Amino acid sequence: MTNSGLFPFTELRDVAIAAAREAGTAIRAVSERGVREIVFKGEGKRDLVTEADKQSERIIIDAITGRFPDHRILAEEGTSIGGGGEYRWIVDPLDGTTNFAHRYPLYCVSIAVEHAGEPIVGVVYAPYMDELFVAVRGEGATLNGVPIRVSAVGELIGGLLCTGFPYRLDGPTNNLSNWGNFVLRTQATRRDGAAALDLCYVAAGRFDGFWELNLQPWDMAAGALMVREAGGTISDPYGNAYRVDGNDIVASNGRLHAPMLDVLAMSRNGHGAGKPNVETENPASDESSAR
Ligand code: IPD
Ligand code: CA
Ligand code: CA
Repeated sequence: MTNSGLFPFTELRDVAIAAAREAGTAIRAVSERGVREIVFKGEGKRDLVTEADKQSERIIIDAITGRFPDHRILAEEGTSIGGGGEYRWIVDPLDGTTNFAHRYPLYCVSIAVEHAGEPIVGVVYAPYMDELFVAVRGEGATLNGVPIRVSAVGELIGGLLCTGFPYRLDGPTNNLSNWGNFVLRTQATRRDGAAALDLCYVAAGRFDGFWELNLQPWDMAAGALMVREAGGTISDPYGNAYRVDGNDIVASNGRLHAPMLDVLAMSRNGHGAGKPNVETENPASDESSAR
């Protein structure tokens, strides 16, 4: 798709960048002052919301509606603006809230613009590191203005992968079996706690792959475009095309995509980590430790 006669992508991009920076500054201010309000979504004590999530969403929504009053918006902390507009903004005002609440610096603001079912602009701003990731469909991805590219790692055992876990861990998609199988096959596997940023790290070649189940559109839309525009591959865990409204994602540098899908299929088929048919880097030592 080219930028053919609708809103210039640059105009959408610039509004997203300004909003993400302003929201990020507000989030940092809350962090420096100290978080005052933490409430829990749902029944458990894992899914947090702070005053920074809400302030950030207000700033971003005001920026979008002030400039594009007829655009649709889907934002995590409750803003839903419908209508017939052909653009939809998909906003995670603070991705990595648990990290933020613990003063672990990996958190970000994520803003995407979707048109005709595809993300066309993605902006992710990590205020603590002052890192701004920007992707525009067909025009590439940048980090603080410098073009980024996925890594060239060609084997899982040479790869640094990342994943995340859902807040509800009692279902069959709690990801623990996948986690074990990847830990056994990669150089290392991380859980960093901010899916949007994790995807940007794949785009920047810091991670070689990322997978997660049970995400929401606002966790993925901007980061997925970032990976695609940096030369990477995104799909669902079965290898089907990524959908903005889907929940599961596999993102990679391309070269590791098929091996990642294989590991996920193996876990689905019940071959959990530590079971005898697991192929590890060093099968001999596995055998001896299994005795
Ligand atoms: C969460 C983060 C985390 C992922 C969770 C998400 P939030 O988003 O992206 O890494 O594992 O599934 O819900 O709640 O911090 O915006
Ligand atoms: Ca999120
Ligand atoms: Ca969030």
